[in-house]
Amino acid sequence: MSSDQSGAAAGNAAPSLSMSAGSGDTADQFVQIVDVVKKFGESVAVKGVNLSVKKGELFALLGSSGCGKSTLLRMLAGLETVTSGKILIDGEDLAQLPPYRRPVNMMFQSYALFPHMNVETNVAFGLKQEGVPKAEIKDRVQSALDLVQMGRFAKRKPNQLSGGQQQRVALARSLVKRPKLLLLDEPMSALDKQIRQRTQIELVNILDKVGVTCMMVTHDQEEAMTMASRLAVMSEGEIIQLGTPHEVYEYPNTRFSAEFIGSTNLFDGHVVEDEPDHVFIDTPDLPCRLYVNHGITGPLGMPVTISVRPERIALTRKPPEGAYNWGKGVVTNIAYMGGYSLYHVKLEAGKTVIANVTSLALTEIDTPTWGDEVYVRWSASAGVVLTS
Ligand SMILES: Nc1ncnc2c1ncn2[C@@H]1O[C@H](COP(=O)(O)OP(=O)(O)OP(=O)(O)O)[C@@H](O)[C@H]1O
Ligand SMILES: [Mg+2]
Repeated sequence: MSSDQSGAAAGNAAPSLSMSAGSGDTADQFVQIVDVVKKFGESVAVKGVNLSVKKGELFALLGSSGCGKSTLLRMLAGLETVTSGKILIDGEDLAQLPPYRRPVNMMFQSYALFPHMNVETNVAFGLKQEGVPKAEIKDRVQSALDLVQMGRFAKRKPNQLSGGQQQRVALARSLVKRPKLLLLDEPMSALDKQIRQRTQIELVNILDKVGVTCMMVTHDQEEAMTMASRLAVMSEGEIIQLGTPHEVYEYPNTRFSAEFIGSTNLFDGHVVEDEPDHVFIDTPDLPCRLYVNHGITGPLGMPVTISVRPERIALTRKPPEGAYNWGKGVVTNIAYMGGYSLYHVKLEAGKTVIANVTSLALTEIDTPTWGDEVYVRWSASAGVVLTS
């Protein structure tokens, strides 16, 4: 059974990601990861991943610690061998290419700038190794530094730069080699929150300008949402969901995805009516049935979970008029976030629901406070039916 409100979001097998041999546009399959498995001894770090990345896109791998993100990236860089499966970049099998011919560059978490070399020499290093002529090195280094707006710091040593500036130098050092594929492992992890947000936008702009295909690993779901054109949510060596940030956020395919990307309210229940355009669910959490206005197909009685995002939940003082999707409770916590507040409402049946209410909406209901009795409600289109 699957919710069919969005075919593209439904799971790992969106049509454009099909791996069938010889099919489709090669630009859509610039990077092809086919049944890739990585074992370290007995433990399996990557369990049969299939994934295609389009030319020029910024793709993010997201997941909790130890789920295999870095391992996957390291295999793409040729730093780890593949236990089974294969990786193709621009149609070439990575395993057949000697390391110096791999069109890939990886930027590590720690940047690893050489402390005794200045900015210019750091960026030039890889090109010198390759034996690129001096005059060409000079031009390429200069344009790479201009690109990241670090030209005027060319003579400084890394310890004379801020974290964000070091990060840009590391990026210039990666880009100067003109890789076809740029790999970024937690590129912002050394930056504090404010500079991190600014750097995210800068990085997207730079990558856009260069037109390089990029795969990025991050823990940070907000970072992935802001930067990536598509992302994959990973857990325990497997891809759980793949799609645009919007698809994954609005149509999570599992509880794991729903909880990992953003926060959500989950209601457990079972299907009591299943029609092509709607479904009713009985839940012990609410005094009424849950009503979702898009079809699923599955037997009556099937256990399901309904995910409702906090910003889809409205708070009222008076009992809502509709017969479905509401609950009565007491405000137990309020987190003021500036333009909006997060209200925790403990329902009569014991479940706590989180509602994200804008400041404007709050003034319209005379801003409820701790201990106030309120109602929560949401529309039939707000819920997503999850079956695993
Ligand atoms: N060289 C290695 N030898 C043995 N096990 C390894 C090795 N490298 C990674 N692993 C294991 O493989 C699994 C995946 O590790 P990986 O570094 O890919 O995780 P990650 O998703 O990048 O995590 P984090 O977000 O913490 O960086 C972990 O259980 C890790 O302990
Ligand atoms: Mg890692």
